[in-house]
Amino acid sequence: MNIIGINGSHRKGKNTAALLNAVLGEAAALGATTELLELSDYNIKLCLSCNKCLGRAQCSITDDDMAIIGEKMLAADGIVLGSPVYWSNVTTLMKNLMDRSRYMHMTQNMLAGKVGAAVTNAGLRNGGQEAALRIMEYFLTAQGLLVVDARAQNAPIVSAGVAGSLLADFKDGKVVWRKSVEEDEATMLAARQLGRNMVELIKSLSSK
Ligand SMILES: Cc1cc2nc3c(=O)[nH]c(=O)nc-3n(C[C@H](O)[C@H](O)[C@H](O)COP(=O)(O)O)c2cc1C
Repeated sequence: MNIIGINGSHRKGKNTAALLNAVLGEAAALGATTELLELSDYNIKLCLSCNKCLGRAQCSITDDDMAIIGEKMLAADGIVLGSPVYWSNVTTLMKNLMDRSRYMHMTQNMLAGKVGAAVTNAGLRNGGQEAALRIMEYFLTAQGLLVVDARAQNAPIVSAGVAGSLLADFKDGKVVWRKSVEEDEATMLAARQLGRNMVELIKSLSSK
């Protein structure tokens, strides 16, 4: 079982990476092979809107790294997308990945039947996390993936989605910031649960 995480943060190895690593770490503990891809490590050009992918399952841009990411997506049993919130939305890197993935969708849904999930975090509470999650989940669903959330069956339910914040509280007239989303314990719990849920669904699909 192969599960990849794709980080759309423009900052490698920070909060969104921590959430993705929590999902992937739990999946790895249950036997999955995992890999974290940092989009900021790759050169992925903007979609040209040439519409060639309407007629063939291939992107017309070939002199960049999209094929590397695309092959890893096609080889995976599970894909977890991660993006911090930028203006109540996903980042430019994540949106660009979505646009450039259009060739996997227009002639046939090449990712159909895989398991998908999404994680996010933002500076503020209610800073646009749900919007960013829904945007990634919509993309995954449109691509034909089966989207799982972070709900637990036999453990405390803390959140339906992995949606962290750096703002922890407001005390004595001051905002209390977390140093990292890793201090947002409920979100980290949900991220680990998401990893378990992904493995469970992939296993149950492969046994059918
Ligand atoms: C361009 C930009 C836009 C942002 N927009 C929002 C926002 O709409 N709401 C919010 O709460 N935080 C916003 N943030 C804060 C980030 O979501 C936050 O710092 C997040 O933890 C970054 O994740 P990372 O550490 O993985 O890069 C924004 C940050 C940047 C750079």
